[in-house]
Amino acid sequence: MTLDVVILAAGQGTRMRSTLPKVLHRLAGKPMVRHVIDTARGLEAERTHVVVGHGAEKVREALSDCEVHFALQAEQKGTGHAVAQALEGLGEGKVLVLYGDVPLIRRETLAGLLDGVDDDHLGLLTVTLADPTGYGRILRNAEGEAVAIVEHKDASQTELAIAECNTGIMAMTAAQLRRWLPRLSADNAQGEYYLTDIIAMAAAEGVRIVTAQPADPLEVEGVNNRLQMARLERAHQLATAERLMADGVALIDPARIDIRGALTCGHDVEIDVGCVFEGQVELGEGVRIGPHCVIRDSHIGAETVIEPHSVIEGTVIAGRGRVGPFARLRPGTRLAVGAKVGNFVETKNAEVGEGSKINHLSYVGDARLGRDVNVGAGTITCNYDGAHKHRTEIGDGAFIGSNTALVAPVSVGSNATVGAGSTISKDVADNALAVSRGRQISKADWPRPSKDR
Ligand code: UD1
Ligand code: CA
Repeated sequence: MTLDVVILAAGQGTRMRSTLPKVLHRLAGKPMVRHVIDTARGLEAERTHVVVGHGAEKVREALSDCEVHFALQAEQKGTGHAVAQALEGLGEGKVLVLYGDVPLIRRETLAGLLDGVDDDHLGLLTVTLADPTGYGRILRNAEGEAVAIVEHKDASQTELAIAECNTGIMAMTAAQLRRWLPRLSADNAQGEYYLTDIIAMAAAEGVRIVTAQPADPLEVEGVNNRLQMARLERAHQLATAERLMADGVALIDPARIDIRGALTCGHDVEIDVGCVFEGQVELGEGVRIGPHCVIRDSHIGAETVIEPHSVIEGTVIAGRGRVGPFARLRPGTRLAVGAKVGNFVETKNAEVGEGSKINHLSYVGDARLGRDVNVGAGTITCNYDGAHKHRTEIGDGAFIGSNTALVAPVSVGSNATVGAGSTISKDVADNALAVSRGRQISKADWPRPSKDR
């Protein structure tokens, strides 16, 4: 049977106190609803429908690159009404209802739920909570079969004592939805069309309600305010950290790491506190990352050491590199084996050859450095003329004296030397010395001006 996933994302999320629609708030760097969409993709759903309402335009825009169908729920008249807006676009197979503000639901849990669904069976994900306040309660008959859900606001005293709750996640066939949704009424405490009322309709028809529970209650936790958001984020990060440690990564403190994307690590990687990893980051064997680094979409080769407070983006480091402290490697930086980029150095679109060093206080952009180049402190590639970017080429074994300005386009030949304080605007030949600076004048025994003279 085909699968349609319907993600409810029309609610306002008033308690976030934000102009951003709730489902666009980020967990692990990704809008909550995108976590849910990605999970749906993992289930190989035929179609994914997102029901939008509050902030519909913003949600559509934020998801414009996703292969999803949007259904507009202009007025929020309840979860049953929300699913009904997607009814037209459904196929003939199974339907899975998810919430856009329940981001951590796992594919495995859903696959299990879906397995049991057919014309005679409906799947319902429930969770037993110490404090069930606000949730719909699961009513079971004498045989223990789930037969209805009663919303908190409609529940009697005895029903309120039930701890088994509706997570909101359920799976059924499209045919069942087409049969039941038109029969929903809003005759209840909230004047809404409750999706939950289909459970009693199913039971009345002899369709069995197959309940399942998530392996971890975090999977079904929804976000209504920023405190819940932050708690879910921490719990998620800790779970990720624990997975990394199980795989052999040494985290100095699993409570102080943030992974917003995918981090893959070789053996014996060590990560100190306060680091943030974004996008796709790969750390090779034996890499050590010092405290408070931010690393985004980069590959860091084996045995490289990243010293504290370095910010690295779109960079490839071949191996045995040394970076920082306080280095900023911007996109297009390529460090060959054993290259060093030290403190207060910024690189961008820069290839740095094997064993080359840019140890202090420099800017190297749109440049290629050969092997064993030494770039002195305070060297700047002047790559921008106000309109265009130009390249700087530096040959193997060249030595660039401190405080040199390399006015691109320009090249320095291999084994050439540039004297400190030079402004180099013409190419320097191989093995040559280039110096361009005011000649020093020294006057012996010179009397410094003073006030009483
Ligand atoms: C719902 C369930 C309740 C369950 C709880 C779990 C119903 C009637 N109740 O209650 O049994 O225990 O979730 O959190 O289903 N939404 C829309 N359009 C609407 C209404 C809601 O898209 O008109 C979306 C919301 O954005 C949200 C989800 O549906 O993502 C749930 O809505 P919410 O108002 O939080 O439902 P509850 O009343 O908490
Ligand atoms: Ca809710």
